[in-house]
Amino acid sequence: MIGANPFDGDCRPTRVPLLFKSGRPCLPFPHPWNFQRPIDILDAYFWRADEESGSGRHNRYLDVPGMPPVLVTRDPGVIRAILTATGDREGHFDRDTLPSTGIARATGDDTLLFGNGSMWRQQRKVSAAPFGKTSLFQIDVFFEFEDTFRNTVRKRLAVLRQHLLETGSSRLQIAVEPEIKTLMLEMLVECFFGTSIDYQELQEVYVPALERIIDHIVRDTVINRLGFPRSLLARFSRRYAQANRDFAAFEELTDRVLTARSSGRGLWKKFRAEVPDAALRSNIKVFLAGALEATTSYATWTISHLARNELWQEKVFREVEAIADYSPEQLSEARHLGFVLEETLRLTPSLYFLPRKATVPTRVQTADGREMSIPEGTHILLDVWHANRHEDHWGESVTGFSATEFAPDRWDKLATQKGPTKEHLHFGFGHGPRVCPGKHLGQLEVALVVGVFVKLFHFRAIHPDNEVKAGVSTKPADGTLVELELREPSAGMTTENEWDTIVKPDTSD
Ligand code: HEM
Repeated sequence: MIGANPFDGDCRPTRVPLLFKSGRPCLPFPHPWNFQRPIDILDAYFWRADEESGSGRHNRYLDVPGMPPVLVTRDPGVIRAILTATGDREGHFDRDTLPSTGIARATGDDTLLFGNGSMWRQQRKVSAAPFGKTSLFQIDVFFEFEDTFRNTVRKRLAVLRQHLLETGSSRLQIAVEPEIKTLMLEMLVECFFGTSIDYQELQEVYVPALERIIDHIVRDTVINRLGFPRSLLARFSRRYAQANRDFAAFEELTDRVLTARSSGRGLWKKFRAEVPDAALRSNIKVFLAGALEATTSYATWTISHLARNELWQEKVFREVEAIADYSPEQLSEARHLGFVLEETLRLTPSLYFLPRKATVPTRVQTADGREMSIPEGTHILLDVWHANRHEDHWGESVTGFSATEFAPDRWDKLATQKGPTKEHLHFGFGHGPRVCPGKHLGQLEVALVVGVFVKLFHFRAIHPDNEVKAGVSTKPADGTLVELELREPSAGMTTENEWDTIVKPDTSD
């Protein structure tokens, strides 16, 4: 029956109107005029939802005749239940491949990100283990990380110093995002994949190519629904011709990191020897592009929040100024840095929605006993962005601070609460069987970058508002534009030489 709610149970979503409604930010589905505003599309689902008091307040669905329904939920209980039930078991949800069609065209569809069922399980076995905590936190691996990282920072600082000398100024306005992105790619390529690629080449060739590919992925998913081959479209469109060149650069980068496999450098030794390069290739591409995107997002958001919060910048500084070696132990003791990182991922999650699909009619039960029956074929968007920003879940009465405020203190408060702390999941790395396998690597990279950034610079945002831009991931809309000032070596630094080690230009090459 037209108009009948296809969902059942005591936690039932309510229907959102398909067509234009005055005051609504945009239509509740992507089309060529709104696809670059994905957070507005999610917003459209919850337009006037706060006026509701039932389960429709946080659970909404779209019903287009002749198509499976689309469920959008910002209800943490439902999000958690669906994430827990995603995997390769009978009746489990799949990761919906519809929104990531462009990613599969860019990397191949035999990946951990795109695969489902037994194919996903197999991919997870062969590709995910090297990222695990046990292999990553071995001391030799860790030293390699730190070493590359310091070298990179040193080179960046040499450029900055030169600039300051030339201008005679003590301050510099800079968009941090491009710098962080190159740094992240270098860490991944060099430390993880044991491949040496010149910084300038990364910055001028591979980072721009990957950036355009990420942009292309979003556009291609919406505009090229019929999946015309890129080589064909390249004959008619300059944009697709550029994409062809960028994809060639991506292939070249993948070849270069795979070549290092035989050397056993980096974490290559942790991959199983019997698995041929060809079986890993697509996943390596996912790691290169996806990890770069996610770690850049996470680090730039953290810097962006701290640039608007002098108090927390100083708290983190006081904590990291004495850290000399950034070992896992030292990092885990940096409580304030930990709160800042946690709060960043809550308020501004890098992956802002997680797509799922019901393969069969499925009944989910939340931890507090509510049930929702979801029809077969339903496309599900787990709207982490809005779940994490709603007063009902993260507001004053629950955490002591407003949900939309950057308040790292809330984690201190939650840590002292007994019992329900574990219920406060922000899903920044997902949850359940398909939780991010790069979580430890990513956390480490971001903690290193932010820790040293705070240690070396005072920084202040240029724009007061911290707006978002969103594509495959979210990032600060202003490119993390800050005014930087070099800090003086401080009494808290552990050795006199430490400042020199970090700041002096590297003359070894
Ligand atoms: C530090 C920043 C990172 C963040 C915030 C992040 C976030 C996430 C999230 C939320 C998911 C779950 C997606 C879903 O449930 O649909 C995920 C999955 C994934 N992440 Fe990450 N990630 C980060 C870093 C990395 C790194 C460094 C790598 C690899 C080198 C990586 C590789 C993956 C892969 C392959 C998946 C898919 C796993 C599967 O479906 O089994 N991520 N990530």
